[in-house]
Amino acid sequence: MTVARQGLPGLLDTEALRKDFPILERALHDGKKLVYLDNAATSQKPRQVIDALSEYYERYNANVHRGVHVLAEEATALYEGARDKVAEFINAPSRDEVIFTKNASESLNLVANMLGWADEPYRVDHETEVVITEMEHHSNIVPWQLLSQRTGAKLKWFGLTDDGRLDLSNIDEVITEKTKIVSFVLVSNILGTHNPVEAIVRRAQEVGALVLIDASQAAPHMPLDVQALQADFVAFTGHKMCGPTGIGVLWGRQELLEDLPPFLGGGEMIETVSMHSSTYAPAPHKFEAGTPPVAQAVGLGAAVDYLTSIGMDKIALHEQAITEYAIKRLLEVPDLRIIGPATAEERGAAISFTLGDIHPHDVGQVLDEQGIAVRVGHHCARPVCLRYGIPATTRASFYLYSTPGEIDALADGLEHVRNFFG
Ligand code: ALA
Repeated sequence: MTVARQGLPGLLDTEALRKDFPILERALHDGKKLVYLDNAATSQKPRQVIDALSEYYERYNANVHRGVHVLAEEATALYEGARDKVAEFINAPSRDEVIFTKNASESLNLVANMLGWADEPYRVDHETEVVITEMEHHSNIVPWQLLSQRTGAKLKWFGLTDDGRLDLSNIDEVITEKTKIVSFVLVSNILGTHNPVEAIVRRAQEVGALVLIDASQAAPHMPLDVQALQADFVAFTGHKMCGPTGIGVLWGRQELLEDLPPFLGGGEMIETVSMHSSTYAPAPHKFEAGTPPVAQAVGLGAAVDYLTSIGMDKIALHEQAITEYAIKRLLEVPDLRIIGPATAEERGAAISFTLGDIHPHDVGQVLDEQGIAVRVGHHCARPVCLRYGIPATTRASFYLYSTPGEIDALADGLEHVRNFFG
């Protein structure tokens, strides 16, 4: 993909690239052009992914790992081929470390449940502690609350600074010898903050705690190297990175996956079963009970091919330029307050804001009438809203196909919202 000159350095050639996304052609509300700025909720899908899904169902559909017939073998090869693609995409040392789940929430729940049932040295119990942060998505809060309630473990968290960063000033008190796991988001879905992995991993390693990184808002937007992160587990979802819904990923270090117990029981995760007990298949199959999301995995594989063909480093540069421009334009709108980092450094492409005392639902509604899709609410990260004393925010979030023109449309749209509400 060549780089276009649109006044901002590092932009992708969105004019060419947008042709891959049929939905972006849609017009809404009496012919208004769709301006899709809700990419942190889900991305749109390129033709290449849509075609891979159709082709799978038209030519290859069968259950995997079970049949000896041609379709079963082809479907299995496609499913396992998608695992190879994902492993390469995240630089996993081994394809067997890539577990397919339903979504990032399931990946996070999987780890929380494994640790509750694990033997020493991994077991979370009433004498141990679990650490998260105040900027987590509910899917990285509630599983740990459930684990704490069930085991008696103490749940602790890092707070936030006024400018939307993690407050790590008390890192030695938060992560202690009692900590079994530290689970935190790489890029916040509500604040956009890109968190400092190295400092947290270093402290966790000092005390022998495991590290789980929620990379749901990172994997679609930047090169993701699980070895460089030095975490023990990394979770993300397919539908935010041009893939279909219904497919998530948990990457885990091989020796941990060998030692830890399964989460869900059922077909395909076993070695042998008797009426008294069972033994389990090696990872990743130990963690993939039942018929897996085969078509969705194939779609995710196509999404990985698509993103790789553009280049994750180029996508990251594009989004950085777009985000910088968006922050500039948004800060020109009177009464607009960005909730989260108000500069483009160490942040992702989701920007939350309030607009005077106009309720975000009203902002979203009036923007929608202009064809502009944003998300409003607490974005499944309600503790962040509580921290900043607001009921909700409006969030605009960008992706590889977002254009400066769309940012201008958002800024103009917000002026219209202000006029509308006087
Ligand atoms: N986690 C998604 C979001 O932030 C749904 O919108």
